This record gives sequence, structure tokens and C-alpha cells, in this order.
Amino acid sequence: MDAGTDDRFLTWLPGPMWRGLAGLILATTAAAQPPADTLPASVTKATIAEGKKIFGGIGLCLACHGTDAKGGLGPDLTDAKWLHGSGTFLEIVALVKSGTDLANSKTGQIMPPMGGASLSDEQLRAVSAYVWTVSRKPAK
Ligand code: HEC
Repeated sequence: MDAGTDDRFLTWLPGPMWRGLAGLILATTAAAQPPADTLPASVTKATIAEGKKIFGGIGLCLACHGTDAKGGLGPDLTDAKWLHGSGTFLEIVALVKSGTDLANSKTGQIMPPMGGASLSDEQLRAVSAYVWTVSRKPAK
């Protein structure tokens, strides 16, 4: 067999299709190893939208953190500064669930568990995902 035959054979391969497939495999591999500080894969855009509603609704979060989460009695949640932990999703979930009593408060203000609201685990995750998301937007 000579090289010329091989070249002709290669031109029959559907190039774009193979490149697409390779891209897909790479993307899948990357998704399997997310950086440490990300939202869980189960959190979708709909989860975050639901979290936003909870923040301004039954979660009562807006009463202390403001409608746009930029703070009031409670701290600004949209900046990169965290009073508690480093702002990972799991840390936010834990803090929102427990709130901060006086002993744990950094500002002297307390946050009641879940802001005083009664949230299901799913609602807690949704509102935490919303907080995580707004805290990652570049400050304006
Ligand atoms: C009664 C007022 C109040 C309500 C309601 C409230 N918070 Fe807070 N929140 C605070 C205060 C005050 C702090 C800061 C406590 C401290 O000084 O340690 C805080 C802290 C936090 C933090 C940690 C911020 C950081 O920098 O580490 C998060 C996240 C948070 N709140 C989310 C929520 C969410 C989500 C809700 C709604 C479910 C909510 N809060 C409802 C008062 C409130």
C-alpha cells in the first residue's frame, strides 16, 4: 500500500463530524471534574429563578438583605466579601439554614435560621443557589 491511497482514504472521512465528537468528549471530561467552587450539577437555571422568587418572597431575605441582595440590616450578598466562610455553595446552604446567633455574629446583628422563614430543603438549595449566583457577578 502506498501513501497516496491512504490520503485518498482520509478525504472520505467526515472531518467535521469527528471534530464535533472529539469536542463533545472533551466537554464531557471537563464537566466530570468541576472546580471546587461551583454549583452542583443538579442546580439549573430554573432552580436559580425559583431561588430569586424565594429571596424576594416567602424567604423574607429581602427584608434584611434588600430586594437586589445588596444589603441593608444584613450584609451585601453580591460582593466577593464573606463574613462567614468563603462563599461556597455548601457554606451558603449551611449558613442560611442555621442563621447566625449573637455568639456567631460578625456584625452584632443576628440572622434567624432561614431568615425566620420555613423553607423546604429544595427551597433552601434554590435560594442559596441564587445567592451564590449574584455573588459571582462582577460588582457594578
Ligand atoms: C432579620 C434579618 C435577616 C433576614 C430575614 C435574613 N438575613 Fe441573612 N443575614 C442577616 C445578618 C444580620 C447577617 C450577618 C450576620 C453576622 O454579622 O454574622 C446575615 C448573613 C447572611 C449570609 C452570610 C453573608 C456573609 O457575608 O457571610 C447569607 C448568605 C445570608 N444572610 C443569606 C440570607 C438568605 C438567603 C435569607 C432568606 C432565606 C436571609 N439571609 C434572611 C440578616 C438577615
